[in-house]
Amino acid sequence: MHFELSEEQRMIRQAARDFAQQELKPGVIERDEHQKFPAEQVKQLGELGFLGMMVDPKYNGSGLDAISYVLVMEELSKIDASASVVVSVNNSLVCYGLEAFGSEAQKEKYLKPLAAGEQIGAFCLSEPEAGSDATSQRTTAEDKGDYYLLNGTKNWITNGSTASTYIVIAQTNPELRHKGINAFIVEKGTPGFTVGPKENKLGIRGSDTHSLMFNDVRVPKENRIGEDGFGFRFAMKTLEGGRIGIAAQALGIAAGAYELAVRYAKERKAFGKPISEHQAIAFKLADMATQIEAARMLVYKAAWLKDQGLPYTEAGSMAKLFASKVAMDVTVEAVQVHGGYGFVKEYHVERLMRDAKITQIYEGTSEIQKLVISREVLK
Ligand code: CAA
Repeated sequence: MHFELSEEQRMIRQAARDFAQQELKPGVIERDEHQKFPAEQVKQLGELGFLGMMVDPKYNGSGLDAISYVLVMEELSKIDASASVVVSVNNSLVCYGLEAFGSEAQKEKYLKPLAAGEQIGAFCLSEPEAGSDATSQRTTAEDKGDYYLLNGTKNWITNGSTASTYIVIAQTNPELRHKGINAFIVEKGTPGFTVGPKENKLGIRGSDTHSLMFNDVRVPKENRIGEDGFGFRFAMKTLEGGRIGIAAQALGIAAGAYELAVRYAKERKAFGKPISEHQAIAFKLADMATQIEAARMLVYKAAWLKDQGLPYTEAGSMAKLFASKVAMDVTVEAVQVHGGYGFVKEYHVERLMRDAKITQIYEGTSEIQKLVISREVLK
């Protein structure tokens, strides 16, 4: 068993670390405050090859492994989870889905600009009345011969207004429930497709989250992904990898807050010595470090399984369940270590605490992860 990263993986991690410090950190508080999308930084992430990390170079991807991907997610998320969620959605939910299940023509037309980072994509599954219960899709896709007619609303869509390519899950045949669901590629600007107002969120406030409305939107038949009725399976397979990315995001948020807490504890003096020399604080740091390391092992294991071509459904859900809990617990403790300073924006930890919460909600709540894990262990 090897716990060492390769030379290439270490270099990629360093590149992500440098980028986060130099490009994401300046302005991160302001972007959070004003809900400003990190457009310039996302463009740079594309140029670095971080938006199509695991895609085959023949489709403009970087051809890297899932371990490299989680390393990048972890480093970016230490500083700015609003930027890292773009990386996660584009890599795991959009590029992966198109590369694994799209037709050659779809890959040429849609995957190539997405993997090159020239465009970003969005994954549209959640609805006002179908979040966890993903089979109960209300958005309909009526088969009209050479096209489908889409009608419905999608909620909480990451990259909602900034994406160019949208993967939309819709119900074609309600009687068949999940077997009647399809996934479609919808281009921005298609008549009848409109973007609702931006959500005003607790955390990841720089990310671009919207509802989307589809009103008699014509989608050419060649934009359906896979065979008729493949959409639910497509969504599940895609989300499996997405959960590893979000687990890495949660790990990064926790590690970022922990690093700030350690630095502060060494600098801040109380009762005549640095607070890190008081056991009340030192033991908190020990607990945080242990939790983060345990989360890291689960995240890397899930990514490693994916790289080996082995099943990773259970491992991905375990990583997300655990790392998102660690993100929540560690960020709360990091605020506590900072005392009053932790409660003000300049010290970053309150933002990380707010950002942590979404990792227990999107790409399947913690309860959904427990459902997936329990089904696997009881098989
Ligand atoms: N891989 C392949 N197939 C799968 C699968 C998987 N991981 N999970 C389920 N399926 C198949 C099942 O085999 C079954 O097919 P058959 O009938 O042919 O055997 C079919 O799908 C239905 O499965 P279930 O009976 O298990 O379905 P269910 O209604 O009980 O739901 C669920 C399963 C796990 C709860 C699923 O609905 C789920 O994952 N829900 C959460 C959805 C989610 O994660 N949403 C996040 C939104 S995206 C997002 O947040 C992105 C963003 O912007 C950041």
